[in-house]
Formats: sequence, structure tokens, C-alpha cells
Amino acid sequence: MKLFNGMTVENNELAISGVTVSELRRKYGTPLYVYDENMLENQCDTFISNFKSEKFKTEVLYASKAFSCLEVLRMANRAGLGVDVVSLGEIHTAYKAGYDMSKAYFHGNNKTREELKYAIEVGLGTIVIDNDYEYEMINDLAKESKKTVDVLLRINTGIDAHTHEYIKTAKDDSKFGYSVYDETIFDLIADINGQSNLNFLGFHSHIGSQIFEKSSFYEAAKVVMEFSRRVEEELRLTIKVLNLGGGFGVYYTDEDKPFELGEFLQEYIKVIETESENFGLELEKVVIEPGRSLTCNAGSTLYTVGGVKKTFAGREYIFVDGGMADNPRYALYKAKYEAALANKINADENTVYTVAGKCCESGDMLVMDTKLPKAEQGDLLIVPSTGAYNYSMSSNYNRLPKLPVVFVKDGTSRLVIKGETLEDLIRQDI
Ligand code: LLP
Repeated sequence: MKLFNGMTVENNELAISGVTVSELRRKYGTPLYVYDENMLENQCDTFISNFKSEKFKTEVLYASKAFSCLEVLRMANRAGLGVDVVSLGEIHTAYKAGYDMSKAYFHGNNKTREELKYAIEVGLGTIVIDNDYEYEMINDLAKESKKTVDVLLRINTGIDAHTHEYIKTAKDDSKFGYSVYDETIFDLIADINGQSNLNFLGFHSHIGSQIFEKSSFYEAAKVVMEFSRRVEEELRLTIKVLNLGGGFGVYYTDEDKPFELGEFLQEYIKVIETESENFGLELEKVVIEPGRSLTCNAGSTLYTVGGVKKTFAGREYIFVDGGMADNPRYALYKAKYEAALANKINADENTVYTVAGKCCESGDMLVMDTKLPKAEQGDLLIVPSTGAYNYSMSSNYNRLPKLPVVFVKDGTSRLVIKGETLEDLIRQDI
């Protein structure tokens, strides 16, 4: 297992930012999500200090769908990041965390009237329009509230980077945004731009997640800018803001080869500067919105080993006290993770195990075929890189309570989300 910055070994035992795993178990129990706060802060710093330009303002948003809770949002706010929100719940969490809501961008392909109303009430900075149905609702609500609302339009560049390489297609089936190849988009933009209660600023584009090809981002930025130029010429308006989305790939296992973030961000800025000049754009602001790359590697999940079982077919399982309810990513995407026995971190890794959860579902796996030391009941098993899309996608399947979340920093730990109790599980039942 790769040891990330902040992970150290003391007496054969793993410590995260100076707090040993046995201390964490003693204080909070398992299963448990643990975040290294220094790593979270450093990632924020890397984005803020490298995504900078002298030609236009820049803004980095935290895509809070990766992991939304009051404390992580307080931290992102302190670090100077804006925030990307996609639901009433995410808006509410950011608002209650004291976020400067003028730095919030509201995304989603089917925002409800209730969500939009709340967004306008709390002074949410920019609404990203996905489609014409939504546009009319936003316009009505802006008129009703007698406010002017800043809006971007989400466009679809046809660059599909999910497969780790881009393919440009004129016919794009994505449920998100409006295709730049659909000529009716010009009428929509003219219409939005003509509304007195809407302040049309520019476009948003997000090409996918966990992308390792720098060129996918550069190509998408270029298509967005080329399109912006066409819109400026045909509709005689000025594009001031571009939000180019997130999606920067991270390390889960040694199959993943992420680019060096700081270096990439500086290169990305250069590409945007050059292309905006080539297309004659006078951009006021360029925005990006990372989620996974801010929080993923900072978070780990700590489990206690229960049974260890060899099947008739020969597979050796380690059963842990959590599983797909706290990390559904194997079940959903066949996502790969590393693992280690955190209380035997230096021991010889001589046995091949499959780490399985405790849910009643055959697909409830965490890590397939990984080499670990001989495991025994009571060992502490760690799965790193669970800091994004784990807590936020966790469920109560099998009526398992949601796990607590702890932040550690320089030898101290603190609870930032309490674990659910049995009473919490039946609270809404009638
Ligand atoms: N902006 C928009 C409009 C997005 O839809 C997303 C992610 C992001 C930014 C942040 O992307 P990131 O930097 O985190 O890659 N549940 C999946 C990931 C879904 C991502 C959805 N959108 C997973 O567990 O891998």
C-alpha cells in the first residue's frame, strides 16, 4: 500500500498525521473515516497557488458532492475556495457552514423550483442553467424576487473523456448541458441574454471524472473558447466567465498515473491564456471545480477484521465490519483500492486475500486479491483514498448506521461528523 504524506509507521503500526490507528479505534471505534487535515489544506493550497493568471481572475470551487459536511466546507471557505453545489442539501450545508454564498455555483440537470427559490433567497452567486425548462423557471423566480441572477449555460463539447481518451462526436447523448453542435443553442443564448433579471456571463463545461489525460482538458477548453468566439460574433455579446469543471484524476492503486497537479495547473492556465488570445476573448474570470482531487487521498477508512475464511474454491476472505454501505464504489464501478493491516504494517505480505464487507450482497467487496500479512480477528484494516465519493455516497443498507468522520492533524484528532446511532436509524419511521 502506498503511504501518503502524513502517514508514518511507529512500532509496526500505521499513524496518520501523528495519531496511531489503535488510538483512533480506542477513541472512536470502527468502522471509521479518517481525514488528514494537513493533506486537505495542502491540496487547497496547491490549487489556489497554481491556478493563477495575470490576464484574468481565477476561481477554484470545491465540488462538494465529493464530501459535503460543515467542517470540510468551513475549511474550503477559509482556504479561499468557492463551492459547487447540486442540491438543496448541499446548498444548505454550505450556507450553514458560513460559506460566502456569492462564491457558490449551483449545478444539476433537474433543479427543482424549491431548490432554485432557496438558492436565490440565500444569495447564491451563480446558477448554471442546464436546459430551457430550467431557464424559464429561473427567470420567473428572479422576476418574482426582483433580483438579478448571474447565470452560466452548461454546454456540452462532445468531448467524452470517461474512457481516458477523448473522442469528439457531434451527436452527444449526455444528459448534461446543451450541445455546442445543436444550432438551436444560439436562440437559447440570445433569449437568456435578453432577460433583464438574468445576467448572462458565459459557459460551463465538465467533461468527466478521474481523467488522466492532460490533453482532454486542453482540448475541451479550446472547444469552449472556439464556441464562445462564435457566440460573440453571431450574437454580438461578450463572454466574461468560463467554468471549465473538474475531473482531475487521482491515485487509488498503482494502475493510476495521475499528473503532478501543480505543474498541470500552471500548464492549463497557459493553454487557456493562449487560446483565449487566439480566439480574441476578453475573459474576466476562469473557474475550475475539483472534487475528488481535493479530498480523495486525504481520507482513509479504518475497519476491524472479523472472520477470515477460505472458500471451497480456494479464495481467502477477510471480513470487515463495514463494506458497500460505507464504500459502494466497488459494487457500482468495480473500483480498485489498496489495503493494509494497519497494526502489522511492516509484516511480510505473504497471503492473497479478498476484503469483503458484511452486507447481504455478493457484490459487497472492497478489495479483490490483495497481498497482506496473515490476518487475524481484531486486526485493523485500512483502505486509503476513500476521501471522495465514499461518505457522500454511503447508505444505510442493511440498516447499518453511517460512520463517524474524524479529522487528524499533527498528533491530535477530532470528531467532525458523529456516527449514527440505532435511534437515528428509526428516527423518521412512523
Ligand atoms: N463539476 C461537475 C459539474 C461535476 O459533475 C463533477 C463531478 C465535478 C465538478 C467534480 O469532479 P471531480 O473533480 O470530483 O472528478 N461518483 C463518482 C464520481 C461522480 C462525479 C460526478 N461529477 C465516483 O465515485 O467516482
